[in-house]
Amino acid sequence: MQEMHTHEIIPSTGKPSNLSSYEQTYATFRWEDIHAEFSWHTTGKVNMGYEAIDKHTTTHRRDKTALIYADDGGAQTFTFEEMRKFSNRFGNAFRSLGVQKGDRVFFFMPRTPEIYAGVIGALKIGAIVGPLFEAFMEGAVEDRLSDAEASVIVTTNALKSRIPKERLPHLKHIVLIDGEGELEDREASYKALIDAASEELDIEWVDLEHPMILHYTSGSTGKPKGVLHVHGAMLQQYITGHWVLDLREDDVYWCTADPGWVTGTSYGIFAPWLNGATNLIRGGRYSADRWYSTIQDYKVTVWYSAPTAFRMLMSAGDDDAERYDLTSLRHVLSVGEPLNPEVIRWGMKVYKQRIHDTWWMTETGAHMIVNVPSMDIRPGSMGKPIPGTKAAIIDDEGNEVPPYTLGNLALQAGWPSMMRRIWNNPAKYEEYFKLKGWYVSGDSAYMDEDGYFWFQGRVDDVINTSGERVGPFEVESKLVEHPAVAEAGVIGKPDPLRGSIIKAFVSLREDYVETPELLEELKQHVKTGLAAHAAPREIEVIDKLPKTRSGKIMRRVLKAKELGLPLGDLSTIED
Ligand code: WTA
Repeated sequence: MQEMHTHEIIPSTGKPSNLSSYEQTYATFRWEDIHAEFSWHTTGKVNMGYEAIDKHTTTHRRDKTALIYADDGGAQTFTFEEMRKFSNRFGNAFRSLGVQKGDRVFFFMPRTPEIYAGVIGALKIGAIVGPLFEAFMEGAVEDRLSDAEASVIVTTNALKSRIPKERLPHLKHIVLIDGEGELEDREASYKALIDAASEELDIEWVDLEHPMILHYTSGSTGKPKGVLHVHGAMLQQYITGHWVLDLREDDVYWCTADPGWVTGTSYGIFAPWLNGATNLIRGGRYSADRWYSTIQDYKVTVWYSAPTAFRMLMSAGDDDAERYDLTSLRHVLSVGEPLNPEVIRWGMKVYKQRIHDTWWMTETGAHMIVNVPSMDIRPGSMGKPIPGTKAAIIDDEGNEVPPYTLGNLALQAGWPSMMRRIWNNPAKYEEYFKLKGWYVSGDSAYMDEDGYFWFQGRVDDVINTSGERVGPFEVESKLVEHPAVAEAGVIGKPDPLRGSIIKAFVSLREDYVETPELLEELKQHVKTGLAAHAAPREIEVIDKLPKTRSGKIMRRVLKAKELGLPLGDLSTIED
C-alpha cells in the first residue's frame, strides 16, 4: 500500500540553521527547557511588551534597529531603545485616558510605526489589544467593538466615520492619530496625548495567563468570534521565531501581513521582537515592483508571505523578479492557504530559495505544522508538527486513523499559544474540543507514512479568499439586509489566483428583477457594509435556495451544482 506513494522531494540545503535536527529536538524538547529565557522564571510575572522590546535595551541590542518602516516615501528606523520610549509614551497616554488592566484597546488604522508602538504600549499597561483591518466598514467595526466592549480605539480622521459611536456606549475615547483642529465628542488628539506623556513607564507585571490580544475571525455560522490569547503565548511565538523563521542576529525580517490578521501580530510583532530581530514593515499598497525593491533596498534576509502574494508575483512574470537583486534572501516562508507545488518550483527557479510552508490558525496563536530549513520539503505538504506539540488525523469519533486516510486535522490541546477563550462565547470554545478533548481545526487532511501532513480542504463552509477567512453567514446576512434580497447562500468557488472567490446565490423579493445594475449594487452593499474582501465577485439569481427541512441553506448543494459535481445525499432537502 505504502509503495504506491512517491513524493517529490526538495532536499534541505544543509546550511547551518537554528533547528539542526528536527527529529532529535522533537523527541527531547520540553517547554520547561525555555522557561529560563523569560522574566517569570525568576519573578513569577511577565509582560509581552517588556520581553519584546525593553529586555533588549539591557543588552548589546540597545541601539540595534528594531523597526524599519518603509513606504513609497522612504524609510524611518527605530532602535530598541527608541521603541521602548515610544511605546512607554503610548502606555502612559492610555493610562491618562483611564485605561486599566484588562480594558480593550482597539487599533483601526493603516500600518505605520504608531500602530506597532501603540500595541506594545497597550500591552505594557496590561490592556487587551484588538487589531482591526483598515478595510473594515461600519458593520464589521461595530460587531467587533460592541462584542469586545472596547473602551478606546486608535484611528485616523479618514476612518473615524466608520465607527458608529452612538451605538457603542462603552467606547469612551477615540484617539485620532492625525487629530488636529476641532475634536468632537469622545475624541482625543494623539499628538497632544503623546506630547504630554513621559518616556518612562511602570510596567504592569502580569501572570502568564493574563489576556493579551483579541483577534476576531470567521466561522461558518454566527458573527465573527473573538479569539483570545494570553501573554504566555510568547513561549511558542519566541521559539518558532527561532526554529521556523530561523532568525539570527543580523537578519532583516519582513512579514508582509497586516496586524489585523494574526500573522501580522504573532509574526509581524511578537516572534521577531522576542528574538531581538530587525523587523521591517512596509506600508502602502502591493505591487511586484514595490515588493521586490523593498527586498533589494533593505537587503531583506527572511521573508514571510502568503500563497496569494506568491501567485501574484508569479503572474507578474520572471522578468520582474530578475530586474531586482534578491540575493540577500536567505529564508522564505508562506502561510494562510495551501502552497501550490508549482509556486515552490517557481520560487526555486526565480528566488533560488525553497518556500517553506507553515500551517496554523488564529486559534493556535503560533505555528503548529511547519517546514524548517533542515527538513526535506515535500511540495504540497504543510510539513510536520513543531517540537512540544502533537498533531493527528482523527475520525469523527476522535480516533486516530492510519496514514493516507482523510480525516480531521486535530491537535493535542495544551500548547502554550493556544487560545484561552472565545470572547463572550464559552459554548463556541467548547465546540473545538468535543472530540475526546482534541482541538479540532476544521481542516481536513491526511498524514503520510513519514509524518508529513497534507492539507485537503475545510470541513465546514469557511471560505479562504486570498488568505482571508470569510464566514459565509456574515456575507449572507449582509446580502439579505438589502431590500431586493429574499434569501442568500454563499460559497467559495475555486480560483487559480485567489484560492477561492466568493460566489453568492440570491433569490429576489417580489417586485425586483435581475439587472446588471442591481447585481453591482449588491456587491457594493457588501463591500461598503462589511469589507472589500468579503464582497462576492459573482452573484447568481435563482428562484429558490436549496434548504434543509429545518431551514438551513445547503451550501454543499450550491457548491456541487456550481462545480458540476454529484449533489450527494439530498434526504434532508426541503422539497
Ligand atoms: C488555512 C492563518 C493550507 C486553513 C494563520 C486554516 C492553510 C485557516 C495554511 C486558518 C497552510 C492556514 N496550508 N491551509 N499552510 N495555513 N491555512 O485563522 O484552512 O486566518 O484552518 O490563520 O487557513 O486561517 P487564519
